[in-house]
Amino acid sequence: EKGTYPHYMLKEIDEQPAVMRKIIQAYQGADEKLTIQPEIIEALNDADRIHIIAAGTSYHAGLIGKEYLEKMAQIPVEVHVASEFGYNMPLLSQKPLFIFISQSGETADSRQVLVKIKELGHPSLTITNVAGSTLSREADYTLLLYAGPEIAVASTKAYTAQIAVLSILAAVTAQSKGIDIGFDLVQELGIVANGIQAQVDMKEEMEQIARDFLSTTRNCFFIGRVMDYFVGLEGALKLKEISYIQAEGFAGGELKHGTIALIEEGTPVIALATQEAVNLSIRGNVKEVAARGAHPCIISMEGLQEEGDSLVLPKVHELLSPLVSVIPMQLISYYAALHRDCDVDKPRNLAKSVTVE
Ligand code: F6R
Repeated sequence: EKGTYPHYMLKEIDEQPAVMRKIIQAYQGADEKLTIQPEIIEALNDADRIHIIAAGTSYHAGLIGKEYLEKMAQIPVEVHVASEFGYNMPLLSQKPLFIFISQSGETADSRQVLVKIKELGHPSLTITNVAGSTLSREADYTLLLYAGPEIAVASTKAYTAQIAVLSILAAVTAQSKGIDIGFDLVQELGIVANGIQAQVDMKEEMEQIARDFLSTTRNCFFIGRVMDYFVGLEGALKLKEISYIQAEGFAGGELKHGTIALIEEGTPVIALATQEAVNLSIRGNVKEVAARGAHPCIISMEGLQEEGDSLVLPKVHELLSPLVSVIPMQLISYYAALHRDCDVDKPRNLAKSVTVE
């Protein structure tokens, strides 16, 4: 039930700090260390390559999962849009492992791939919010998201739950290989939960940003580099699906290779700046669009902020920044949709689970 909330989406956004804590708890063993069934860790260690298969928001979580599995566990990963993989299978290595990411566990495009790779005899792991769902029943292994039911069509808490579970999977695999990831993930996820809480407590600021940048615009661009690029893709999807504003996410350096032609006086460009190594280059990209009349909204992180930034996120570990930086994307999209009188929980043309190919 949505209780006192006007929409499920807002309730589900607010639930994210609690979901983070629930996930930490669910994946902690008796000694409080993160743990995952040994068969799953063995399957990852056996693989020479991981293929992540997903759609929509879950695909965007997969892009971040790739970073975790490669950077922490040192396993090469490819991320695929499920509906493409089915018809255009890449050349597979000797021992691939397939990870299906799906909130519902019912997405037909992903299931089609699962059926195919099972025929080929490859192992599979489903990461899903729904125990007993089709993708969970049919895969060899399952990891649950513990996000609680997600009712709003636009996915919010499932995305952050997917990223958190992927970080745990990567960290536990790294540990099994004797790799030191250099930080305490339980502690850092706790800091993230507090960072998310701080963001969801800033609804007035988020509403103001939506009003300042999005109340009348026809389109909007999201730019970022590294982790921020992937979050920008998700920000654009959130905004377009519930507010119907045409929105696109770009790697900071890519906009000038064509799309900058669309920048007009007042075009909103939402730029994420949470990654130290690329802070100067993303700010350079902001200057490029601002010089063409764009209305830039910079969302940075403590330690990297500059005067004039629209929002400064609390400091969290750089790899985990998507868990915090996506919160303003969700809330700004929510308020933009409200201002435009859109049906936030049930956007036009969309279904919660896409069980047709
Ligand atoms: C976007 C959204 C969709 C789903 C996609 C995959 O907010 O909800 O893009 O992420 O349809 O669904 P699942 O994760 O259930 O496989």
